[in-house]
Amino acid sequence: MLILGIETSCDETAAALVRDGRDICSSVVASQIASHRLYGGVVPEVASRLHIESVAGVAREALAQAGAAFADIDAVAVTYAPGLIGALLAGLSFAKGLSYALQKPLVAVHHLKGHICSLYITNKELAPPFVALVASGGHSHFVRVDSYTEYTLLGRALDDAAGEAFDKVARVLGLPYPGGPEISRLAKSGDPKRYTLPDPHTERAFDVSFSGLKTAVVNLVNQAEMKGEKIDAASLAASFERRAVEILATRLVAAAKQENLPAALCGGVANNSALQQRTQELCEKAGIELFLPVPELTGDNAAMIASAGYYELLAGRVAPLNQNAYATRSIEG
Ligand code: KG4
Ligand code: ZN
Repeated sequence: MLILGIETSCDETAAALVRDGRDICSSVVASQIASHRLYGGVVPEVASRLHIESVAGVAREALAQAGAAFADIDAVAVTYAPGLIGALLAGLSFAKGLSYALQKPLVAVHHLKGHICSLYITNKELAPPFVALVASGGHSHFVRVDSYTEYTLLGRALDDAAGEAFDKVARVLGLPYPGGPEISRLAKSGDPKRYTLPDPHTERAFDVSFSGLKTAVVNLVNQAEMKGEKIDAASLAASFERRAVEILATRLVAAAKQENLPAALCGGVANNSALQQRTQELCEKAGIELFLPVPELTGDNAAMIASAGYYELLAGRVAPLNQNAYATRSIEG
């Protein structure tokens, strides 16, 4: 079954063709980062307008790269939540029009379920159940993947998401958006033990909090400025990354241990090599198998949406043409 996936929930306009949920025929991602970088973060109105301008061309490009025609598509899968509402509506409206014109089913995909399904594309042997950390710019969820379409939330970021914390810390260190990869690069030349940063307490075992950690970094930078001292930016980036990675990796491995299931990393932050290494180390110690996505599928893309759409369609979940978009929506729905 050939599914066209469409993704426009944040700052990437993406389209992809995926066969039977696991094999990528094409995957096109048009990044808006250059436009948002001017403002130090994503400007929702700018994002919506850019999606409207490029979504049709990106979809056509995905078909061209796969050597396919619109008539070859069996269904159109599109992200409907969570995300920036205007951005989501741009992709959803396009997908609805296409579904109606082609008389092919429309499938509404939850963005975070998409990130989890990116793992099926890279790991052909992976099948539920397993425990996944979905760490992106807007969410940090510890999820038990019960089946291809059913998910249980075990814990989550209570304030800032992991990616958001990386982006904000990068900003105070004067690094461009998106900050995650920049922090990671800078951290490589720093001493991760130079600065002691807090490990915030949470009531529930698998919840995490990044706001206190982020504020501690901001305070160190401000205090150094007031005293006229120069901050060791590389070591601060390394100390922050080490602490953030420890928070995420220990929770994921503890959750996998509790559930007695394999573990998996996905979402933009899963591209972080320190996170991958530390999680691998802890998993090996605990005798837990770890699944990782390829770097191209960690960030937002439409192949993951087409994959999730395939499994939703197999479960009989076809969306109506009056399907709405939602800025927030639980992964358990
Ligand atoms: O999943 P994603 O592409 O978009 C959302 O759904 O939000 O995640 C984007 C986030 C950004 O906050 C970015 O800074 C972060 O992922 N990120 C990283 C790395 N690469 C991307 N964070 C830490 N280390 C990285 N190497
Ligand atoms: Zn995402």
